[in-house]
Amino acid sequence: MKANAKKSDISRKQILARSIPAFFLHYLILLAIILVFMIYYDPRDWMTYVQKNLNVLFYMIVCIFLLFIAIYGYYFSERRETLVSFKKITAIFFLLDVCVMASCFLGQAIHIYARPVALIALLAMALFSKREAILWNFMFAILIFIIDTYTNYDPAESAIGMYSENSMYSSLIVAVSSGMIAIFIAAKIKTRVSIVLLGIPITLPILAVILLLEMGQNGFFFEDLLVLAGYGFIGGISSTVFFLALLPVFESVFNILTVFRVRELTSPDAKLMAKLKAEAPGTFNHSMVVAQIVEMCAASLNENVELARAAALYHDMGKLSKPEYFTENQNGYNVHDELAPELSADIIRAHAREGYELILAHHLPQIFADVAVQHHGTLPIKYFYYKAKRMTDGEINIEDFSYSGPKPTTKVAAIVMIADAAEAASRTLVDRSIANVERVVREIIEERIDLDQFSDCDITMRELDVIRKTIVFSLTGVYHHRITYPPIKFGREDRKESKKQS
Ligand SMILES: [Fe+2]
Ligand SMILES: [Fe+2]
Repeated sequence: MKANAKKSDISRKQILARSIPAFFLHYLILLAIILVFMIYYDPRDWMTYVQKNLNVLFYMIVCIFLLFIAIYGYYFSERRETLVSFKKITAIFFLLDVCVMASCFLGQAIHIYARPVALIALLAMALFSKREAILWNFMFAILIFIIDTYTNYDPAESAIGMYSENSMYSSLIVAVSSGMIAIFIAAKIKTRVSIVLLGIPITLPILAVILLLEMGQNGFFFEDLLVLAGYGFIGGISSTVFFLALLPVFESVFNILTVFRVRELTSPDAKLMAKLKAEAPGTFNHSMVVAQIVEMCAASLNENVELARAAALYHDMGKLSKPEYFTENQNGYNVHDELAPELSADIIRAHAREGYELILAHHLPQIFADVAVQHHGTLPIKYFYYKAKRMTDGEINIEDFSYSGPKPTTKVAAIVMIADAAEAASRTLVDRSIANVERVVREIIEERIDLDQFSDCDITMRELDVIRKTIVFSLTGVYHHRITYPPIKFGREDRKESKKQS
């Protein structure tokens, strides 16, 4: 069995040519934001400011440029696929720009300790990955430290007149530690709302720094410490509040699928899921079982488990347009008995394309739509093909009774294709022994290999074997054997017997 590894047709040179100008553009944008902030908050006019601070500004420009080189190096060596897309590059730097602006604004308007220092870590964690969140947390902390070093924080201008040198130099450790705490705790958080509570642990390192650094200041009183602690608390909470406000913006503008959104979409209360449950309960149940199997297979293949499960839940959404035409929603009466097999096949195969269109019409993730349209590949609808054959002596074109594709292009789509067929087949099995389920699943996979259904995705024979074993394990668990107990007779005779004994 071939393993069609997807080869990137974009060369290193092309990646460099595309991404370096994009990086440089975003470097200039960020620089402009920082300079506007520094000049705007300086009491002098901008000409005087630039003349007086020329060497300082030059150092800052170089420092930020070096940071950008470090970031580029990370993406070039670790996540080159990000550099291929201008949209992705824009997403990461838009994130940085927003966090810098929020920090600069709150730092000046309220206090350095009130800045949402963990915001970038939380957003990068939700939008990209844990590794990128750690990178961005460090980069942001260094950037904030650079800005603080070259910004004129005039004590006379500040809210309580105590922008001590300590508070400026502490910005590095405050940002790093708060961000790291946010990353490690956020990894375990399941819903958006519980993120708000994360503001409390984020505040802890800020409070620790305030306590350790500011208490040693001359003329410092307990009331001052309380005020600063209050600012620290604002810093922790503002990180989570900004996160909750900005996450939907990033999700929709850059069409990024976060773990929160996936969880919301897989809830039975999600719009299409609720519709499926109400209008096609049989399909809803089938989708739930398929999703459970797909989840286990995705975990075995190190695929994104939550995303695979969600895509599986939506794979048959196309059946919503005519639920009663699908066996699992029929209750004794089969509407196809009165239809020509050609028409039946047309209706059945339309559900793949209709699912694709319905999912996109509801602005749901592209991967859901792709799985929906690919989950039957170009397979024939055998039942109606043989029905048509029985009804005519002439030639029947099997393509008229086949799904129009495309074939699965991802491992997740391939898993859904197999799990879908295995679940449907296992429902009709009288003998659900492990050996029999194993035989059925093996036949399903072999049939799809023979019909060339996996030629467009990079799945290997070894992975198909893992899928087979996982599905057998899952199905024999789902439809587990029940021991046939002898009927319990607790009639008159039993009662007489028990009376005698007593
Ligand atoms: Fe289907
Ligand atoms: Fe299905």
